[in-house]
Amino acid sequence: MFIVKIRASYSAAHRLCREDLSEEANYALYGKCSNPNGHGHNYDLEVAVAGEIDPATGMVINFCEIQQLVDSLIIDQVDHKNLNVDVAFMRGVIPTVENMARIFWDILTPRIRNGRLHHVTVGERNSNMVTYAGPSPARSKLADS
Ligand code: NI
Repeated sequence: MFIVKIRASYSAAHRLCREDLSEEANYALYGKCSNPNGHGHNYDLEVAVAGEIDPATGMVINFCEIQQLVDSLIIDQVDHKNLNVDVAFMRGVIPTVENMARIFWDILTPRIRNGRLHHVTVGERNSNMVTYAGPSPARSKLADS
């Protein structure tokens, strides 16, 4: 199996907060990311597709195909936006990197025609990254094994 990866970046504003909590409780939970007037991050995104080589092309998937999907479906939607208010697919979601990785996965996975989506990593900086590799197996399946 091969894993083909592309990287992209975007800049966006957000505020992490739960409406049902006080400002103090939000600060305790989210730290500086709960700043009431928001703040920005430079986000790094990695998208990985797993598959086997197509002998006709020598490729698993063309890098350009993944890049175009990521640019049109994600980067164009989130770059230089406020994630709490500007982005339809983030509406009602606390804009953590976990939630972004999960939502980006849900958007991309049906659009990958060669191979299958392997993981999506979103980082607020190189030292803070989250990788989503799809839903966990059902609890009952784990109990069976
Ligand atoms: Ni933040």
